[in-house]
Amino acid sequence: MTPDKTLRLGVNIDHVATLRNARGGGLPDPLRAAALAVAAGADGITAHLREDRRHIKDADIVRLKAEIPAPLNMEMAATPEMVEIALATRPHACCLVPENRAERTTEGGLAVLTPGPFLAEAVAALGRGGIRVSLFVEPDVKVLDACKALGAPVVELHTGAYCEAQGAARQAELARIAAAAAHAAAIGLECHAGHGLDYETVGAVAAIPTIRELNIGHFLIGEAVFVGLAEAIAGMRRRMDAARGGA
Ligand code: PXP
Repeated sequence: MTPDKTLRLGVNIDHVATLRNARGGGLPDPLRAAALAVAAGADGITAHLREDRRHIKDADIVRLKAEIPAPLNMEMAATPEMVEIALATRPHACCLVPENRAERTTEGGLAVLTPGPFLAEAVAALGRGGIRVSLFVEPDVKVLDACKALGAPVVELHTGAYCEAQGAARQAELARIAAAAAHAAAIGLECHAGHGLDYETVGAVAAIPTIRELNIGHFLIGEAVFVGLAEAIAGMRRRMDAARGGA
């Protein structure tokens, strides 16, 4: 099946770094995972440089930018430190996310309705640096209008609640995502989605026509333990393409 290039797959390699850091050495190397992911059909590599550096480290971002022949999407908090690192490294894209040191993963979307003083400045500074900025937000029409007002060209819709819900509640969350994705397109925002997606949940999100990119990490790295990273990614790509009408 030919990959549908209107829907890109960004592979998040954070948890290869989590495994590496568990032993403190250099293995497994997230760079090797990134190269393999690209060879297996990833359209880009996503890595989250957290303030506490619990998985990806500064040197990983530098090496990913220098050595991986695919767009790098750097996830980060909207802080002066992170903006400075991004402007020095110049990834293809930055996805601004909320960060809370006590959380296990990014738990919710950015508070764009009550933004801190630095958010608009971060969006503007990164944009001036030629970096495509996306805002990781809840799938909500008012929230997307606020993203537009902040000047971001891209939004990434948080799919965590959809993935965690079951039955009718999951369908309701999916409807919120579909409505938000339609609204994003209507107001001129490129729409991405991610968080918690797996083989079971990806199809319905991939089928939403205005979504242009999915960023997927934890499930793929976990699945790679059993079938290898290339096969895990190929399986995701097949499901995305099938949902998109078998392009
Ligand atoms: N998109 C964003 C903005 C994220 O913060 C994360 C988690 O780092 C993901 C996508 C990927 O989520 P998961 O690892 O659950 O697939």
